[in-house]
Amino acid sequence: MNVFEFSIIIALQNNIFSGLFVGQNLLTLKEVDSTNNFLKNLLSNSKPVPEGTVIMAETQFAGRGQQNNQWHSEPGKNLTFSLLLRPSFLAVANQFDLTRAISLGVFEALYPLLGDGLKIKWPNDIYYGDKKLGGMLIENILQAGQIKNAIIGIGLNINQEVFPDGAGNATSVKQILQKDYDLRTILSDICSHIEAYYLNLKANKVSVIRKAYLSRLYSFNENRIFKAGNEVFTGTITNVKENGLLVIQKGNREMTYNLKEIEFLNK
Ligand code: BTN
Repeated sequence: MNVFEFSIIIALQNNIFSGLFVGQNLLTLKEVDSTNNFLKNLLSNSKPVPEGTVIMAETQFAGRGQQNNQWHSEPGKNLTFSLLLRPSFLAVANQFDLTRAISLGVFEALYPLLGDGLKIKWPNDIYYGDKKLGGMLIENILQAGQIKNAIIGIGLNINQEVFPDGAGNATSVKQILQKDYDLRTILSDICSHIEAYYLNLKANKVSVIRKAYLSRLYSFNENRIFKAGNEVFTGTITNVKENGLLVIQKGNREMTYNLKEIEFLNK
């Protein structure tokens, strides 16, 4: 065996990412403002960035969450990464199917560890029981009526033990299972499951994805309390529309809401 063959074998052994393209180009950063910002800047440089590229950070000092919130994560303890996909095959009107596919990919990767307490909270939070394990910030860059680049930022609490008071209802895999987990192993599982769902999406298996998403949904078909504007009411989630709007049965009326319009109140 010559040196070249030997180094290829070592490289293959070190590559725990088993998929075709998601995670095959992995860049790990010690510190960055936000992996979503980093990936966006990378795309505006002249060098092509392969689809499936993952940027992972040990520390984010300006992590961004949904609705202009900040995303805090203890350095080195959790997964904070962004993935590049190019779903130009997906109609812009159906972009919520990408959210569904990514949420399901993350869900499937964590399910063997966490089991039935795991849920997807609409639209794309990852919950265990009534606590938030992680979330995602998907930024689609449109060009000529197509999704040219999708920057998929994912934050998951893995080994963090204590959360600051302001972190609300956060939890972590460590809090649930009392064990530390290897971040790269979980990342590689997430990448393979996301790839599988993404390829299903590309193959137009949308009804399977929509059905699976509903079956994993937090509080689906359960009576619970919501707040919309100034109104607090009891209702039941009965569906999520094709375009991602949440459907709640409120008395004998069916209402639809977007993310900014509805709040889940604690049980
Ligand atoms: C949320 O639930 O509010 C979404 C959180 C998304 C956080 C991730 S961490 C990696 C990526 N980079 C960011 O700045 N945000 C996302």
